[in-house]
Amino acid sequence: RRYSRIAGTGSYLPPRRLTNADLAAELATQGVETSDEWIVERTGIRARHFAAPDVGSSDLALQAAQRALEAAGLEASQIDLIIVATSTPDMVFPSTACILQHKLGNAGAAAFDVQAVCSGFVYALTVADAMIQSGAATRALVVGSEVFSRLLDFKDRTTCVLFGDGAGAVVLEASDQPGILATDLHADGKHVGILCVPGHVSGGHILGDPLLKMDGQAVFKLAVGVLEEAARATLAKAGKTEADIDWLIPHQANIRIMQSTARKLKLSMDKVVVTVDQHGNTSAASIPLALDAAVRSGRVHRGQTLMLEGVGGGFTWGAVLVQY
Ligand code: ACO
Repeated sequence: RRYSRIAGTGSYLPPRRLTNADLAAELATQGVETSDEWIVERTGIRARHFAAPDVGSSDLALQAAQRALEAAGLEASQIDLIIVATSTPDMVFPSTACILQHKLGNAGAAAFDVQAVCSGFVYALTVADAMIQSGAATRALVVGSEVFSRLLDFKDRTTCVLFGDGAGAVVLEASDQPGILATDLHADGKHVGILCVPGHVSGGHILGDPLLKMDGQAVFKLAVGVLEEAARATLAKAGKTEADIDWLIPHQANIRIMQSTARKLKLSMDKVVVTVDQHGNTSAASIPLALDAAVRSGRVHRGQTLMLEGVGGGFTWGAVLVQY
């Protein structure tokens, strides 16, 4: 059987780091009140990174991709598929994947973006895995990259404290040894309104509101249920149980969502990779950022079983079970 295996990981955070206190001080100048205490208690977030105004998703993606290629011992020219998961593309078109491709010095690989908001990385990984298994691709670069700070309404304290910018990447390679064991993706478009950026470009203008809107409590309730379902579905497809999971690497939205999911899967928090405290919610970038942090810190080892799972706007959700 032909599998896809993770050959290398990489990530990148833009240098400007704001602690909750830094952000609270900035917001206070606009008459918006928040505190480190509120943010930590409700979300677990302590700091986030924001990209400079002239830095786009493709720039963050380039740094993460170069690190993943280096870890895999590959050159950009050896890649035949590039997928970027992002909701904050550089342009309406062409895709951020094409812009990244050129910056990497690759020509000829298939390149496209996947838009599934915070589930984007598990969607992109699933597509790349399917293309490798089918023989349509051999070496894929799968990137989650976001500049979510561009979408934030800094007058809305219920959302602007939650998100950050960053990128993470994996190189996925064809192998006769197991790598990705099972995947499970879903969406339910009836929930479009609970988490969205409703504006769009039309006739040279932005129509509608171009900033993020969220019903936090509705998102919270939905997220916890669907994450458990997706995790259980991938375990069943792979003939495994919760006890086989060495690391849960969830989308990093909120520590309380992660704690609830871990509890439902009977996993102690020692088995959960947590980076939301330092990164905030980086949407499609959060899972590969967390994976790379866990690999580089020596927590994740070759042969271990990893459960990656994401949930986000759409509503979309999914999980990928990996033998690393
Ligand atoms: N600082 C201080 N006070 C605040 C802030 C803030 N940043 N934001 C809200 N408050 C206040 C509210 O005004 C409200 O005050 P009131 O009681 O006087 O009206 C109070 O805090 C409670 O507000 P709630 O919205 O009820 O707070 P809640 O406990 O629901 O927490 C939160 C809000 C953190 C957004 C929570 O609903 C949540 O975690 N939802 C999940 C959403 C999420 O993680 N989204 C990420 C994107 S989706 C994804 O990635 C899956």
